[in-house]
Amino acid sequence: MDADARALRSRAYESRSPGATEALARNIGEGLHEGTLVTLDGDLGAGKTCFVRGLAMGLGVQDDVASPTYTLMQELGGGRLPLYHFDAWMEGREKALLADGGDAWLSGDGVAVVEWADRIRAHLPEPRLEIRLQHRAESVRGIRLSVVGEPDGGPLTDLLRALPPIQDLAPEVAEEGRTG
Ligand SMILES: Nc1ncnc2c1ncn2[C@@H]1O[C@H](COP(=O)(O)OP(=O)(O)OP(=O)(O)O)[C@@H](O)[C@H]1O
Ligand SMILES: [Mg+2]
Repeated sequence: MDADARALRSRAYESRSPGATEALARNIGEGLHEGTLVTLDGDLGAGKTCFVRGLAMGLGVQDDVASPTYTLMQELGGGRLPLYHFDAWMEGREKALLADGGDAWLSGDGVAVVEWADRIRAHLPEPRLEIRLQHRAESVRGIRLSVVGEPDGGPLTDLLRALPPIQDLAPEVAEEGRTG
């Protein structure tokens, strides 16, 4: 399928505090369904793990979100759905992912989130929700949400369209644009 034939919907925000990033992510987490894959990309300290913390809140996950850099994957429970938190930063992670039955939790009974997904993108299934964070200033981040590989009217495009108005999320986040 070529890129133009794909349903791709996106919304872009600017966040001016970690709390605002979490609030945006929490709203997304509240609407995520079983089997969803969320990818996170952005430089060191861009706010990927901060965003995962918000997703976990939205899912009602009780376990603490930590950086899984030195473990393959952390399974976080106690919420509406289990959250599988994966970090692909280290070299060779794609091999570990494939060898360890990674596809089972990538599209399994919960929500899978992958930090540094660009490193293993070729191995990741669609549809997925792609999050890109951009460091703009000390506490300012650009956040782009894109649905990739889902037909129009699917649950992820619906979720993106249905996100609450920005002023209801947090005062320190502003919407910059949307497509689709
Ligand atoms: N608007 C913002 N949104 C998110 N984080 C912010 C924001 N402003 C400042 N920060 C700070 O940036 C840092 C983001 O750290 P975080 O661990 O979430 O990044 P990361 O992308 O996961 O990094 P790594 O690549 O090391 O995993 C935190 O210290 C957070 O307090
Ligand atoms: Mg991180």
